[in-house]
Amino acid sequence: MATTKETIDALEKQLLNSSGDIPLHNRFRALFTLKSLESEAAIAAIAKGFQDESALLKHELAYCLGQMKNPIALPVLQGVLADVNEDPMVRHEAAEAMGAISSGSSIPILKLYLNDPNRSVRETCEIALAKIEWDNSPEGRAHYSAPTSEDGTYTSIDPAPPTSGLLKGKPAPQDLSRDSVESLKTTLRDPALPLFERYRAMFALRNIGTDEAVDALASGFSDESALFKHEIAFVFGQLLSPHSVPALVEVLRNNQESDMVRHEAAEALGGIGTPEVLPHLQEWMARNDSPRVVRESCQVAIDMWEYENSDQFQYADGLEKVQSVQVGA
Ligand SMILES: [Fe+2]
Ligand SMILES: [Fe+2]
Repeated sequence: MATTKETIDALEKQLLNSSGDIPLHNRFRALFTLKSLESEAAIAAIAKGFQDESALLKHELAYCLGQMKNPIALPVLQGVLADVNEDPMVRHEAAEAMGAISSGSSIPILKLYLNDPNRSVRETCEIALAKIEWDNSPEGRAHYSAPTSEDGTYTSIDPAPPTSGLLKGKPAPQDLSRDSVESLKTTLRDPALPLFERYRAMFALRNIGTDEAVDALASGFSDESALFKHEIAFVFGQLLSPHSVPALVEVLRNNQESDMVRHEAAEALGGIGTPEVLPHLQEWMARNDSPRVVRESCQVAIDMWEYENSDQFQYADGLEKVQSVQVGA
């Protein structure tokens, strides 16, 4: 069905909360519907949201623009990355989105921020640069030209590809021995290795997806890098393994942990949607000592939890039926 201007306008009003009474989780739903439309008009509507006050909403806008993979969004993303007054979580997501779009024109820009005062921003730029380079390598080109398998392969554009042995066309994850999980865990946890290599091990473990792989991933929560830890929580939000719940609850409840990591843990828990996670989400949505981004993440996560526990579909003016409210890293 063709998307009318009226539809985009209505979604944009919802996203921007023009009426002032749209709950945050409904603004998120409007955002994900716009993302699914993949049009330039939808990108323009999403870009307007960067005037908002919510870092959570803005980082999700950047995530969606990256996943839409349209270079037309690059100037907006560059502007967000360049704004040192912007929340680092939003700047990080803008840099990651530039990596997802993977244009060679982003290379000199990302290099400008390799010494950014914010660790998450500079680490993201390091990974995004390595990804763009890899995308253009012979291995990268072969990976992207391989047919997508239908065995549950994740459809997101990830900040790094899985470790080489787990690329498309290689043996199925279930054929992998326990040794593979152990060696991937060793790579994952080695702070001397480039973050890009450690991320590759992370996404390989995600694709394996066994309880052992989940345990290996959870061991990464003791790392020093908030960026690295938030990505593990994001991966758990994709895996949706109830086995990851205890580790995620511990992260959400740890008020010494970075907001960005706790935010991602909250949303992963909402997506997993098992009964025991709801009281934790409700508690941290209500607590006075809960940082704004954690509170808001719990609000969105409760909406996801309710969605997972119902058979409803998301509608936007009868136009789109979106069956997933998976939110971004
Ligand atoms: Fe992120
Ligand atoms: Fe996130």
